[in-house]
Amino acid sequence: MRISVLGTGYLGATHAAALACWGHDVVGVDVEPHRVEQLARGEAPFHEPGFAELLGDGVRSGRLHFTTDPAAVEQAEVHFLCVGTPQRRGEDGADLAALWTAVETLAPRLQPGSLVVGKSTVPVGTAALVQQHLDESTPGGGRRGEVAWNPEFLREAHAVEDSLRPDRLVFGVASDAAEARLRDVYCHPIADGVAVVRTDLQTAELAKASANVMLASRISVVNVLAEVCEAAEADVEGLTRILGLDPRIGPLYLSPGIGFGGGCLPKDLRAFVSRAAELGVDSASLLLGAVDDVNGHQRQRAVEAATALLDGRPRGRRVAALGASFKAGSDDVRDSPALAVAGALAELGAHVRVYDPQALRHLAGQSDLEVCHDVQSACEGAELTLVLTEWPEFAALDPAAVGRVVARRVVLDGRLVLDPEAWTRAGWTVMALGRGEAEPDPAARKAG
Ligand code: UDX
Repeated sequence: MRISVLGTGYLGATHAAALACWGHDVVGVDVEPHRVEQLARGEAPFHEPGFAELLGDGVRSGRLHFTTDPAAVEQAEVHFLCVGTPQRRGEDGADLAALWTAVETLAPRLQPGSLVVGKSTVPVGTAALVQQHLDESTPGGGRRGEVAWNPEFLREAHAVEDSLRPDRLVFGVASDAAEARLRDVYCHPIADGVAVVRTDLQTAELAKASANVMLASRISVVNVLAEVCEAAEADVEGLTRILGLDPRIGPLYLSPGIGFGGGCLPKDLRAFVSRAAELGVDSASLLLGAVDDVNGHQRQRAVEAATALLDGRPRGRRVAALGASFKAGSDDVRDSPALAVAGALAELGAHVRVYDPQALRHLAGQSDLEVCHDVQSACEGAELTLVLTEWPEFAALDPAAVGRVVARRVVLDGRLVLDPEAWTRAGWTVMALGRGEAEPDPAARKAG
């Protein structure tokens, strides 16, 4: 099948490469020439495990192309809308400018009988407006392109796996023909047994936003539980293990820490509240406003804990920040809790040196933070070490080795990834959000 993919960010590029892997002829169209050139050469413009290989295979097979030329969409019979829908500047709602540009690019170039499939996360009701726009722009009336919505649930750092083997495929369609066409597009994962849920356009649009609202809410709930654990001297990890064994709750998205960030959860939460308010549903803001506030509170708690560990005087103090990306496995720093905490401490006058295994190239414009290329140099002379992203290499650090380069063995674990016993045995004071402070082992103190 000939398919175009409009927008080649994390979502679009991975989706285009997955479609080519399933044997379709795919063209990815984007307005950014640099990104398109990179992708066309088979080079991944972002860090995503397995993506470079999938992209390279697609480009070498001749089935996967990238261009800035909008005319390239004319050959395709199915078009995926994969452009970004960021938060509107200064407001909570979604900015749909890129989506409308993509729709306007497509409208005059659609072959009769085309299917236009939205994958971007949009406010409920958008698909109907896209259909209306396409119908109004068809010369002489009639319908050239039918709209379907097929939300994407991929997680960064697992984008390839989630694209090739999704948990479920949601087909928001208005006709059997649209469903049949989508079943052809996805015949490989469907043959592998992936569940398909057929629904209407608006339910499909809501499915993605709702999943992210549920996930964000779980994280804020667990962060409140963690704060109570800390106050009551209870064991938050034991508590989440107990909760996770309840099949009604399950073990995932129960990791406390500095909270959620990234290009999706925070903005999807706010866009959902904004759209719900437009629809006259005020309870969304009551509940989800609190979820968002609790998430911001986690960042603030981390900054306060760090300040306290610096005896209330952060100005001029040397701080090592381990982690910049919003989560492990990704180089994405959009709305990163790690960068928010590091940046807030820099604003309070601390001299913050940051190391991240993948995200450092995105910190070029961040003049308040000093970039370091390994853990040891970030920690050199540090009076406080912060662990802000849950990279496995931070969990595996040797506390004795790090202890030899820092000025003070004090660490704030913002992701609960360090083994407190190993670190206190090596003479560290370990503060962890939700777990409180653990003093260095007295034997280690003597030895140190
Ligand atoms: C999310 C959704 O998971 C995905 O289905 C959707 O398509 C896009 O948005 P992603 O943005 O890649 O994916 O991040 P996710 O893995 O969900 O993590 C979001 C944030 O929550 C990260 O900052 C992560 O560190 C944090 N998190 C996650 C926690 O703080 N605790 C947890 O238990 C889980």
